[in-house]
Parts: sequence; structure tokens; C-alpha cells
Amino acid sequence: MRGWISGSTTERTEPARADPPRRRSRARPVERRLNKKRRLLLLKGLVWLGGLAPLVWLIWRGLTDRLGANPIEEVLHHLGDTALIYLLVTLSITPVRRITGWNSLAPLRRPIGLFAFFYLTMHFLWYAIVDQTLDFEFIIEDVVERPYILAGFTAWLLLIPLAITSTKGWIRRLKKNWLRLHRLVYLSTGLGLLHFYWQVKADTYWPIVAITVMVVLMLLRIRRRKPRRERERTVAAKRPSQRSLAD
Ligand code: HEM
Repeated sequence: MRGWISGSTTERTEPARADPPRRRSRARPVERRLNKKRRLLLLKGLVWLGGLAPLVWLIWRGLTDRLGANPIEEVLHHLGDTALIYLLVTLSITPVRRITGWNSLAPLRRPIGLFAFFYLTMHFLWYAIVDQTLDFEFIIEDVVERPYILAGFTAWLLLIPLAITSTKGWIRRLKKNWLRLHRLVYLSTGLGLLHFYWQVKADTYWPIVAITVMVVLMLLRIRRRKPRRERERTVAAKRPSQRSLAD
């Protein structure tokens, strides 16, 4: 009886002593997840700020008459430059994530990529509506006869299915084909760079800087890429919720 009492007492007290560490170990992941959520929210907020800033700046320059002697060309160039910068930033997310191990960058690829597409569409619409006053005959002639316009136009067309299928529903529906389809972003950025290089008249400094950035990003991707089998094993070992598009 005594033995039972003492035994039961010890049995009852031992888990009580062991309780606090167990509670702490359960609370930590929740805290960590909350911190992660807060960090992600902050990063997404920064992406939205950075994404809308060039548009707000352009509108402010327009309203205060600071667009220079040729405002139509200035807006066209500003939109093209912004789109190209955001395309390159989108492509830099995976190499930077792999080098720094900062995985919270992965979910930022989609909003930054969509901002790139938004500015590109504005660039095209500005060209078609304001610059060419919707003269379709002239626009078609321009696309067919000027290689730099053809390159830019093809680049924009290639990005349309990527923007449409960037939602979670399409990622689930297309499975492996989603990754294959979204590799078109490299071709599109390449054509965008060609378009940029071809349209400058004399000073090729910025197009060459942009092309160098793209080449470095591609080299980093190739160098840091794990062998395919190892990559598939790593992805398969993860729970679906842990898998990222960048895998
Ligand atoms: C991925 C696609 C594209 C990218 C990355 C892009 C980017 C650029 C860039 C960076 C510039 C030069 C801006 C500067 O000099 O500061 C530019 C100029 C221009 N873009 Fe695009 N663009 C693209 C697609 C298009 C499309 C679809 C059109 C129209 C069909 C277009 C029409 C033009 C025109 C007319 C210029 C001005 C050329 C000049 O001033 O002579 N672009 N673009």
C-alpha cells in the first residue's frame, strides 16, 4: 500500500516536475511561427511599398510638371526601366536565398514578379495608347519591322501565361508543368534585355550593366544547383506545406 502510495506519488510528481520544459518546448515553435509570420508580413509590406513607389513618383512628377521636355518618352522609359529592374530582382531571389540561407525571401518572388508584369503592361499600354494613339496598323508595322519592338513584344507575350498561372490554384493544377512553364521567365528577361540593348542609340552602358547582372544570376543558379536526384529527394522529404516554389 505504502509502496503503491509512494509509488503513485512519485509517478504523479515526476510529470509535474517535467511539465515546464515540455510547455516551453511546445510554445517555442508557436512563437517562432508567429515571428516568422510577422517577418513575412513586414517583408511583403516592404515589397508593396517598393512596388508602388515608382508609380507614385511618376504620378507626382507628372502632376508637378517634372517630366522634362518629352514627357511621353520619359514615362515610357521610366516604366520600361522599372519593369526590367523588377524582373532582375525576381530572378535574384533564389540565388540570394541559396547563398544567405534566408528562406523567408521565397514568398516574395511572386509579388515582385507580378509588379514587374504590371510595369511591363503599363509600358506596353503607354506605347500603344499614348505614344502610338492606338494606331493598330502602325503598331503592327512597328512590331514586324523593328526587331527591338518585336523582342520586347514577344517578351511581354511570354509573361502573360506566367502572370495568369501565378496563383496557388494553378500551381496545384499544373504540378511539375508549372515549374517548366515558369522557366519562360528567363527567355522573357533575355528578350527584354535584347530589346533594351537594341533600342539605345549610342550609350550602351546601362544595357551592358543589366546583361552582366543577368549573366551573374544565371551563373549563380547553375553553380549552386544541387544534382537533380538530390534535389528531388530533398523536396520529397519535406511536408507539402514546407515545399517552396523555388525548390
Ligand atoms: C520584357 C519586356 C520589356 C522590357 C524589359 C522593356 C524594357 C525597356 C527599357 C529598359 C527601355 C529603355 C528605357 C531607357 O532607355 O531608359 C525600353 C524602351 C522602349 N520600349 Fe520596352 N520593354 C519591354 C517590352 C516592350 C514592349 C512590349 C513594347 C511595345 C510593343 C516596348 C516598347 C518600347 C519603346 C517604344 C521604347 C523606347 C525606345 C526609344 O526611345 O527609342 N517595350 N523598354
